[in-house]
Amino acid sequence: MDRPRITIFDTTLRDGEQSPGCSMNVQEKLRLAQQLDRLGADVIEAGFPIASDGDFEAVQSIAASLRRPIIAGLARACTGDVDRAWQALQGAARPRIHVFLATSDIHLRYKLRITREKCLEQAREAVRHAKSLCADVEFSPEDATRTDVAFLCQVVEAVIAAGATTVNIPDTVGYSMPEEYSYLIRTLRERVAGIDKVTISTHCHNDLGLAVANSLAGVQAGARQVECAINGIGERAGNASLEEIVMAMRVRPDRYPYETAIAGEHLYPSSQMLAEITRVPVQPNKAIIGRNAFAHEAGIHQDGMLKNPLTYEIMTPQSVGVPDSRLVLGKHSGRHALALRCEQLGHQFERRELDEIYRRFVVLADRIKKVQDSHLLELIQDVASGNVSSSDVTGRQGKKFPPAAATLPFPRAVSAAAGANANDSHPAQISGSAGQASVSIPFTDHHSEQEDYLWGV
Ligand code: KIV
Ligand code: ZN
Repeated sequence: MDRPRITIFDTTLRDGEQSPGCSMNVQEKLRLAQQLDRLGADVIEAGFPIASDGDFEAVQSIAASLRRPIIAGLARACTGDVDRAWQALQGAARPRIHVFLATSDIHLRYKLRITREKCLEQAREAVRHAKSLCADVEFSPEDATRTDVAFLCQVVEAVIAAGATTVNIPDTVGYSMPEEYSYLIRTLRERVAGIDKVTISTHCHNDLGLAVANSLAGVQAGARQVECAINGIGERAGNASLEEIVMAMRVRPDRYPYETAIAGEHLYPSSQMLAEITRVPVQPNKAIIGRNAFAHEAGIHQDGMLKNPLTYEIMTPQSVGVPDSRLVLGKHSGRHALALRCEQLGHQFERRELDEIYRRFVVLADRIKKVQDSHLLELIQDVASGNVSSSDVTGRQGKKFPPAAATLPFPRAVSAAAGANANDSHPAQISGSAGQASVSIPFTDHHSEQEDYLWGV
């Protein structure tokens, strides 16, 4: 039986960009949007066009350059915002106007200083206006989870009647518990006329660390769009992490029998690109894409991994695009290995560009022995921006890169299933299948000259 398809709405470039230190310029947003396209995001929220000329331009250039995904622009529930969003989306093949208005009494009283009646009317009017411009309109009642349920139902019903095609239910302040959130989605499905004609969406913040759990609870209750961000960035504690949502569904189809169009092998490159652009590092123990996510340190764990990766790994590193730690880049590595790693990190180069990167890479590798992803990304950035070679500069100053004893990006990691299909995540439970039970791989804790040679071209 076909599994329900979940729309992945990526808000890295909008809500994500609102997190401290994560702002991006137009070129950076465009570059990341192209990566989100490769990743397979269904909807890319490219920005909030009224917020600044830069954001307007970013939405405009993303809308003009990507044809497959839906490109959304955010707007407050007023004519000026909606018009500006629509203007930025003019070049889009699949535009969406995303209108929002707070509905909780706390927001109405203290922030907007309007009555519920005024709120209802404003939401209805803004959606009606957006609909007169664009067929695809999303409405978000901000702070929905702290809104009086009867009033929330009234607003949602009104915006559906006015033409909204997606209704998003934000847990704006990350206050909800999973049971409450799923109950709210069920209640809306039961009480709101016309709700079966629109897509219900989740948008959960992580203030209590429950953004992913709440989003999944929402999906189980009938939501079919999930709003999320790479590395879980977003206002305050962030948004639901895209990679965690996608992999939870992929690793546990018994509990979450849903499909997404996300290409798992692009998760890690997307995460790395975001960290590189914003210079906000990923916490080492971050699920799915953190440096330690596939690292096995304890002797007992390493022993288990050697006997069978199923003992300690519930998915393969390859299934999320984490490069095999055994392919260490060192001074004997060749152009081919370098190009492959660059590609895994989301960068493809013309021959001449690769020559330059390779030239600098060799100088660096000679000095620090093992070139980590972070070094390589820095080097790529230097070449792209025409800077003097990092390796030359740091060779003299000796500061920018760590000493030769630097750890591997995935220290002591052992590939869970050598040769496995990159898109497969192996099952967590031993199924009794002879093939799976007998998986056994050689353990290489560190890089050897032999591997360098094999990977050199
Ligand atoms: O968290 C929130 O309520 C939002 C809305 C604008 C969707 O980001
Ligand atoms: Zn938000």
